[in-house]
Amino acid sequence: MKNQQFLKKLKKIIPDHIIPKFTNQKDLLHWHHKQGKLLSQKIIKQNKTLEIHDTFKKSGIRKLYMECSFNNYIIEHEGHKKVVHLAKKYAKNFNNNMSSFVFLGKPGTGKNHLAAAISNYLILRGKKVFMITISDLMSTIKSTFNNINKKLTEEKFIKYLSKIDLLIFDEIGIQIESKYEKMIINQIIEHRSASKKPTGMLSNLNGFTITKILGENIIDRMKLGNSLWLNFNWTSYRRKK
Ligand SMILES: Nc1ncnc2c1ncn2[C@@H]1O[C@H](COP(=O)(O)OP(=O)(O)O)[C@@H](O)[C@H]1O
Ligand SMILES: [Mg+2]
Repeated sequence: MKNQQFLKKLKKIIPDHIIPKFTNQKDLLHWHHKQGKLLSQKIIKQNKTLEIHDTFKKSGIRKLYMECSFNNYIIEHEGHKKVVHLAKKYAKNFNNNMSSFVFLGKPGTGKNHLAAAISNYLILRGKKVFMITISDLMSTIKSTFNNINKKLTEEKFIKYLSKIDLLIFDEIGIQIESKYEKMIINQIIEHRSASKKPTGMLSNLNGFTITKILGENIIDRMKLGNSLWLNFNWTSYRRKK
């Protein structure tokens, strides 16, 4: 056979200290099979990483927060220690515990940092997470009217939000004044509770004001099960730096 002759010739030419990967056709074939397998495994792995990249891109987590983890949340006092411990516990128990979370406190106290740490932890474990500010939520909903955004209808968008494993509403403030805005949030949370999906909320308001703004209906749903309500009652980390 041609190949066999070629290998024999090759053996004569190559120096002694070089040991060929294969000396006969069977080994050569075996090598090709093995390489093929390795390559397909590599492609599968790459696709998996791409998928995760994609979920990160779609997660609504801004660049500043992509690197946030439980480990790089600096503990300066008991308050920090408590919130990071409970946020980590929340992320670890996510699968067995479909409860929501609410982080309240002044700007710069690390609410987004820990919400991003929870999100990053879950995304790396294949969960779909989406973080959106209330004003972005409302402008997206409004873009579904007037045909500005033809592909997306209000119903489709709300359905989409209901399927995400963890949805986080950021910057819940006094801007939620209209009945319409409350109704939208209510609808989304109701849809999500029905499909046993938890929701996270971040706000600079206190417990009393957020209840007044969102209404008992929404707050009751946010308190179901082992929900996690944390008060970040310390000064801004940003201002100190
Ligand atoms: N304890 C902390 N350790 C490390 N970084 C922190 C801590 N608290 C806040 N930060 C950082 O300070 C900045 C502001 O915090 P952020 O989470 O955006 O605050 P909030 O959402 O409460 O307004 C972010 O870059 C965040 O990573
Ligand atoms: Mg914030």
